[in-house]
Amino acid sequence: MQHESVKKLFKEQVRHYSHKDQYKHSPLTQLILECLKNKKTNKKIEICEFGGGAGQLLNEIGKVYPKANLTNVEIIDDYKSFLTSKKVRFVNSSVLNSNFSDGSFDVIIMRDVLHHLVGRNYKETLYNQTLALRELKRLVRPGGVIFIEELTNESEVATRIIYYLSRLNFKIGLSIPSLFVISYVIVAFLTSTKLLNLSSSVFGEKNIKTQMLAVETKWYFQIVHLFSGLKKVILVVKK
Ligand SMILES: C[S@@+](CC[C@H](N)C(=O)[O-])C[C@H]1O[C@@H](n2cnc3c(N)ncnc32)[C@H](O)[C@@H]1O
Repeated sequence: MQHESVKKLFKEQVRHYSHKDQYKHSPLTQLILECLKNKKTNKKIEICEFGGGAGQLLNEIGKVYPKANLTNVEIIDDYKSFLTSKKVRFVNSSVLNSNFSDGSFDVIIMRDVLHHLVGRNYKETLYNQTLALRELKRLVRPGGVIFIEELTNESEVATRIIYYLSRLNFKIGLSIPSLFVISYVIVAFLTSTKLLNLSSSVFGEKNIKTQMLAVETKWYFQIVHLFSGLKKVILVVKK
């Protein structure tokens, strides 16, 4: 089960995440486009993004790789009216229970969704994050590839404090928009080590290629992340 606050947050943020340039901030964009350019196949391939907002990245992929069926799986139905391209099939569902059959996709993408898979408590949150990774593994075909991008906070203590403070604030209702403090934002960041351990346990260490990029942070972002180091972790998983 996913916490009710997540839908509230992203319903409010639909316009933000529908911005046409949103995908450009993603370090995954170039990597995926390069990988697909080099793909030597004449058959149609199935590409799916979970939590793809208005489908901006999928739209770019469709331009360099027209031989693809593109699917965007989103928990927020409102994105449908902001979809960047008619070529992107929109499915209103969750990565936690999408109902696709095993091996449905050749390429799966998920960017910055894991820290929003908040459950009723910390244990259920970790369960959700693991379940999402298991689902990606189930849904990718043999020979397929999974691209994951995730913002991590490098202090385990800070990730716990941020999680519990954000839960507390959900009850208190404090709102300081300039500091990104909004009462219904509950987030469960992983450290890069925890994300790698979790991914290795699901996909097997030898199947994962990892990249870690330092993140330039604005002062208010440093405050809400309790002055811990932030990284963007990119995982490329081959099945
Ligand atoms: C931080 S935004 C990232 C949007 C986009 N992937 C990007 O990187 O610009 C997280 C997105 O994941 C979606 N989301 C959250 N939980 C989800 C779930 N369980 N299944 C599918 N999408 C989910 C949200 O609606 C939101 O659009």
